[in-house]
Amino acid sequence: MKPTLAFVLFWLCSEMLLAQVASRNARLSVFSEQEPTSESVLEHRATAVLESDSLEQARKRRLLPKNISLMERAFWGENGVFRATGIAPLTPESRKEELEVRRIMLTSHQVAGIATLGLMIATVIVGQRYLDGDFTLYDTKRTLGNATTIAYMTTAAFSLFSPPPAVRRDEWNSISTHKLFALIHFTGMIVTPILANRIASPSGDYNQKVRLHQTAAYITTAAFSASIISLAF
Ligand code: HEM
Ligand code: HEM
Repeated sequence: MKPTLAFVLFWLCSEMLLAQVASRNARLSVFSEQEPTSESVLEHRATAVLESDSLEQARKRRLLPKNISLMERAFWGENGVFRATGIAPLTPESRKEELEVRRIMLTSHQVAGIATLGLMIATVIVGQRYLDGDFTLYDTKRTLGNATTIAYMTTAAFSLFSPPPAVRRDEWNSISTHKLFALIHFTGMIVTPILANRIASPSGDYNQKVRLHQTAAYITTAAFSASIISLAF
């Protein structure tokens, strides 16, 4: 009887022990095979995604120069209008084409700029002669003034909307001086036509309005000439 009881007790104990080991193993396997794996897989995946994201961003950043203007950022930056609309995706192939477009635009910028200078000087000469009493020049002055404004804005657009270069060095050069003068003559070319249009309105003193328009035009022409001369240095 005693051996039978001992056997039953041993059997029960071994069953309990086995059950305990099994449940412990089952618990362990939950941690060791499922949770830790899923955690590490998730972590691994997250790291991989982050790495590929930052790699992608770094790759995109490398396609653009470090310092780009606000205008360039708005149109050609990583999230610029042309990228967002899919017109020019930020890829090495697209950037290659952009650099060709840039070359064409900046060459057109220079050609249109020289034409603008000619028109501007003609407008100033005719404007001065009109003011000195040759009233037959009224229509010519008006036409030349409008043509100068249109030519100027076209010239400016060729440079302002051009795609950014491959590299832009962080140094002061003749183009930086050219751009500094551009700030002055660009403001001048907004103000001068506005002041010109005020001359025709009946309100205000005619001579004073003409004087303001004339002063703005002379400052603009001087800054415009200086911005071109600066390119020679
Ligand atoms: C409408 C007035 C003008 C404005 C607002 C203007 C503005 C600019 C700007 C912002 C740039 C830099 C473009 C860039 O690096 O992305 C530039 C470049 C340049 N501009 Fe002008 N500019 C004007 C007129 C002129 C004129 C009249 C000339 C002379 C012919 C000229 C000749 C140049 C040249 C040679 C460059 C450098 C192009 C290059 O990098 O190859 N610009 N201009
Ligand atoms: C950047 C150069 C210049 C531009 C873009 C320009 C533009 C214009 C424009 C568009 C008008 C016509 C306004 C209208 O529709 O009634 C105008 C009128 C006039 N401009 Fe200019 N102008 C320039 C230079 C000058 C200069 C240097 C003078 C004088 C020395 C001058 C004297 C006049 C006068 C007196 C009028 C008014 C004519 C009138 O209605 O009696 N302008 N200008």
